[in-house]
Amino acid sequence: MVVGKSGVGKVNAAYTTAILLDRFRPDQVIFTGVAGGLHPEALPGDVVIGSHLLQFDFGQIDSLGFHLSPFRKLKGGRHEQLLIASDSLLVQKAQGAAAQVSFLSISSRAPRIFSGVIATGDVFVSDQATAQQLYQDHAALATEMEGAAVAHLCRSLGVPFVVIRSCSDNANQNARVSFNQFIRPAAINSASLVLHLLEEMD
Ligand code: ADE
Repeated sequence: MVVGKSGVGKVNAAYTTAILLDRFRPDQVIFTGVAGGLHPEALPGDVVIGSHLLQFDFGQIDSLGFHLSPFRKLKGGRHEQLLIASDSLLVQKAQGAAAQVSFLSISSRAPRIFSGVIATGDVFVSDQATAQQLYQDHAALATEMEGAAVAHLCRSLGVPFVVIRSCSDNANQNARVSFNQFIRPAAINSASLVLHLLEEMD
């Protein structure tokens, strides 16, 4: 097993993943950390298993504003989708493992487990309207700054992957304060799930 730390943002994540894949040729990749919850019921401490990853800041800006590109054009007229599916077996295994972990409770109730889209961009989202839009437009349950970059590299090289996050905040006006307050317990929740998943996969 190889453990790496990516640093913040898509470039760092892609760089680290490229080195990891090239040097160590892993059979699978598990990427983890914290995220801003976008689902209206996702609270700090909740866990989000990324079934799909989307770069929400890849697109075009014109006089009407920003337009997300659902595809990236490749040579020969081919396209690749920006929305990338995680490995379904790893998602299932993560869901199974999550049911057995006792997570730290940060909010007023026990942490909930969500599975669905994670929206990745090179921005720390601390705006309620943007958070709502990401949820409405893409059904994104959480936002973070690396997952889709890891997904992109893994898809390119055919390596199964899954992204596991725990919410440190709600990507709203309180996000910075909440992030600083809860990053540690949220990171512990993510790590607990990853450790359990690894034990089960042994
Ligand atoms: N990681 C944790 N919280 C985040 C947020 N609100 N936006 C982007 N990345 C995050």
